[in-house]
Amino acid sequence: MKPSSAVSPSHRYARITGTGSMLPPRRVSNAELAEELAGRGLETSDQWIVERTGIRARRFAEPQVQASDLGVAAARHALEAAGRQPEDVDLIIVATSTPDMVFPSTATIIQRKLGIDGCPAFDLQAVCSGFVYGLSVADAMIRAGTARCALVIGSEIFSRILDFNDRTTCVLFGDGAGAVVLEASAEPGILASRLHADGRHMEILCTPGTVAGGQVVGDPLLKMDGQAVFKLAVKVLEEVAREVLEAAGRQPEDIDWLIPHQANIRIMQGTARKLKLPPERVVVTVDEHGNTSAASIPLALDHAVRAGQIQRGQTLMLEGVGGGFTWGAVLLDF
Ligand code: UT7
Repeated sequence: MKPSSAVSPSHRYARITGTGSMLPPRRVSNAELAEELAGRGLETSDQWIVERTGIRARRFAEPQVQASDLGVAAARHALEAAGRQPEDVDLIIVATSTPDMVFPSTATIIQRKLGIDGCPAFDLQAVCSGFVYGLSVADAMIRAGTARCALVIGSEIFSRILDFNDRTTCVLFGDGAGAVVLEASAEPGILASRLHADGRHMEILCTPGTVAGGQVVGDPLLKMDGQAVFKLAVKVLEEVAREVLEAAGRQPEDIDWLIPHQANIRIMQGTARKLKLPPERVVVTVDEHGNTSAASIPLALDHAVRAGQIQRGQTLMLEGVGGGFTWGAVLLDF
């Protein structure tokens, strides 16, 4: 059944009806990366990376692969899981900090690759919080009646903006994409969401370069003050989780699964501890994916759904945090 163009007043919720993801096939273990970095005179080890971050491996895309390629594959899997066709989609939001090109948006490129025309499609730039931002915007558009069947995609090729002469950052990130189909529904769905940003902290995580006069101006590689990001992340992830729970009239113990941005196992465990959630209720994919920025939450969600961990009817807390500084959370019944 093709969704109609307007949401009827009795369908004022937005529900995830399908999830999908795509990882590039090349898996790079810590040991392999450490060997490559040793060739550049940089010392690191599997032990340091595992102990400090929980990361064991990441995926790196081949040079010809773009964020739209991973995003379109993730979107197709999500549509298949939702039992929808590309022509059913009436909104496309792509969260990415590594777009195919300066413009047009990666969202319109994905729209074209999916063979869809006419519906709104745009990129959303909130770095590692991008997927939570995108989900929240799509939810608002569905509840306002301007969309019925949205694709929300996080897709990143962070390996392109890593400085492989900086061991403090290049061991942390990876490539991948995740997607959900979000549809108008009479049943919840998304229960509450909250988004925040504080541009005063923009320098602690940024890729400051840009394109001007036919050249790259400024440094186009990722810079991070890891400790500053760590401290802020632990603080705001607890705060925003409590804010969203309060808005939804729920308690921390109502959360079946916490799906935080996958940056560092210590941040995720710290957030769970503060919310008094047992570690078994945290979805963890950072060990195999590394930090895939805007793709990390939908990738983790899809992996947990396909592994049979997350079941229909369970309550999920999705939380993002990253450059900007940005952060946000979405509480939903799956
Ligand atoms: O996606 C957006 C969100 N991003 C995040 O949430 C990232 C937040 N930050 C972090 O996850 C952590 O701060 C890091 C994983 C980046 C770093 O962990 P840390 O425990 O804060 O380490 P540190 O920066 O305090 O560095 C400890 C030591 C230093 O050596 P000295 O000064 O103690 O001699 C570093 O130079 O570890 C050294 N170091 C490394 N050693 C081996 C830093 N990177 C490496 C490395 N291998 N790759």
